[in-house]
Amino acid sequence: MIVELDGLSRHFVVRRPTGRFRREKRVVRAVDGISFTVAAGECVGYIGANGAGKSTTIKMLTGILVPTSGRVRVTGLEPVRQRRELARRIGVVFGQRSQLWWDLPLAESFRLLAAIHRLEPAVARARLDRCVDLLDLAAFLDTPVRQLSLGQRMRGEVTAALLHAPRLLLLDEPTVGLDIVSKEALRAFLTEERRVAGTTILLTTHDLSDIERLSDRVVVVDSGRVVHTGGLAGLAAAAGVDRVLVVDLAEPAPPLEGVPGTRFLSAEAGGLRQHLALTGSAAAAVAAVSARVELRDLTIAEPDIESVVRRLYHRAAATRPAGS
Ligand SMILES: Nc1ncnc2c1ncn2[C@@H]1O[C@H](COP(=O)(O)OP(=O)(O)O)[C@@H](O)[C@H]1O
Ligand SMILES: [Mg+2]
Repeated sequence: MIVELDGLSRHFVVRRPTGRFRREKRVVRAVDGISFTVAAGECVGYIGANGAGKSTTIKMLTGILVPTSGRVRVTGLEPVRQRRELARRIGVVFGQRSQLWWDLPLAESFRLLAAIHRLEPAVARARLDRCVDLLDLAAFLDTPVRQLSLGQRMRGEVTAALLHAPRLLLLDEPTVGLDIVSKEALRAFLTEERRVAGTTILLTTHDLSDIERLSDRVVVVDSGRVVHTGGLAGLAAAAGVDRVLVVDLAEPAPPLEGVPGTRFLSAEAGGLRQHLALTGSAAAAVAAVSARVELRDLTIAEPDIESVVRRLYHRAAATRPAGS
């Protein structure tokens, strides 16, 4: 396993003033007993609402944040204790924070990183050339990082993270704020990187297209806990979003309210077509409907991933105490 988390937690003690001289101490369970693994070559999407604990998890994987409890291994190493060794094996991109030198031209940042990683010049050159080519960096290699657009900078960040050919790439919101073209360029590049180098990827993202395009599976976190792991398919149930039963009737009928295992949503065409949310088994619901009316046709619509995740995020936001 490239990544192994077992009951990993990180709590923060925060003090906030509640009066002139009073301060309330509160424990934020940013990560609260998370367990999952990532196998070599996999690409796993780590998703959840703002404040769910994604960045805190990534920071513990890189060794910059000490866990409160639990176990974490990355490429077999213990991140905090073996941080330097780990740095040679992983590449990290935090969408919000740069690892590049702000005032130096991009190419100069790459030279420094190659020196830090003690890469053979020929090896560094070959890898860089490939990134320059695939990520279209040539036009701004000599531009100081601070003058780059966000899309240009992120392409530079990903190149910097991959220069030493890490076996694991950790990406925290790599596409946030990017234009469509830059997003696409990055996704295509990461797909190619996996194909050619077999790099394992763990990424957090708010963008479902990233997940659909890149991830083999997802781990969904909510308030520091894993609420779903697996394919995108089971996500709907985890989010509590119902599938929709669409029934076409032989004759117009009043709204099909109160059918067991369903919730009436809407009717069209004077009641000829009706939409019912499935809260139980589809077979039982269909039996119950057909006992009431004559069916002409029926379909079951899976909720689209977009609404599922919106719901998931919405719910997490609604259940979190105010101010956190
Ligand atoms: N250094 C910190 N001190 C106090 N609270 C923190 C700190 N870092 C993160 N948190 C809190 O932990 C929770 C998880 O944060 P984070 O891991 O950044 O979430 P995400 O990346 O999923 O948006 C949030 O409630 C956040 O406010
Ligand atoms: Mg974050």
